[in-house]
Amino acid sequence: MSRLTLSKDEIEQYVQEILRSPKYRAIDIPQDLIESLYIQESPHHKRLQDLHKAVRKKLHNIVAGYLGDSDYGQATQDLKKAFQQDEQSIKNVCTQILKSHISTQERLPFLDVFYQEIFSRVGKPRSILDLACGYHPFGLPWMNLDQNCQYFAFDIINARVEFINTFFGLLQRPILAFQQDILIHPPQMEADVAFFFKEAHRFEQRQRGCNRNFWQALKVKHLLVSLPASSMTMRHNKSVQHRRLVYDTLKDLNWSVEEFQVENELIFWIRK
Ligand SMILES: C[S@@+](CC[C@H](N)C(=O)[O-])C[C@H]1O[C@@H](n2cnc3c(N)ncnc32)[C@H](O)[C@@H]1O
Repeated sequence: MSRLTLSKDEIEQYVQEILRSPKYRAIDIPQDLIESLYIQESPHHKRLQDLHKAVRKKLHNIVAGYLGDSDYGQATQDLKKAFQQDEQSIKNVCTQILKSHISTQERLPFLDVFYQEIFSRVGKPRSILDLACGYHPFGLPWMNLDQNCQYFAFDIINARVEFINTFFGLLQRPILAFQQDILIHPPQMEADVAFFFKEAHRFEQRQRGCNRNFWQALKVKHLLVSLPASSMTMRHNKSVQHRRLVYDTLKDLNWSVEEFQVENELIFWIRK
């Protein structure tokens, strides 16, 4: 049995089946993400059912942790109410939102230190790209950025992107959150700083070695990549493995890199 080659029409049909499936229809993920998985995986399989299985497994790894998302309607109402009150009320609602996902939740007790450590190194940026942002933009009230610092945010889940744009509007910031698969379409705007937090290891699972081209494609002065120092259960130390990921990615690129750590987050300050 030979390896599979799929026509454009076949891929389109399979993509639509996934988009319409009960698991994915509510979260509105980009079509080109699923297409790219079929194109990437088809040469590795001889049987169609194995290919579908492999694509669904990859897709599950990319988005599964974010299914069963927050109640954006309620959270939007809470935010609007807080904005009629005071800064502390805004921070309280943002804290609830940051708590609703593990990545931002575990950073919460150290948020002030986290941003102090970052901005003491990169200075006051005029522009930031928040790549694979999740709920991280709700950390803005702790970042102490200038009001005219442009904050671009990218995620694949549309409902989340719209929620972030509502927040930007309330903050009277430009509406700069985008639904975009940043691996297929790396953002091309120039910026002082890019945050790529807690996602590089999952990019490697999606496509081994892909971080290198992705990081090279970014037009930023400072790239901050963070990775967890230990597994979610805290049982396994991941420092060695995650350092290796970063230094393998940077091999022979001649970029400077400095490491620091805030609690469970290893942060790599990369200057291109
Ligand atoms: C582990 S969370 C990280 C959240 C955030 N960076 C942080 O550290 O607080 C990963 C987020 O990246 C998004 N994501 C995954 N792959 C992506 C891609 N290729 N392009 C854009 N967003 C992506 C997911 O939807 C999810 O919201």
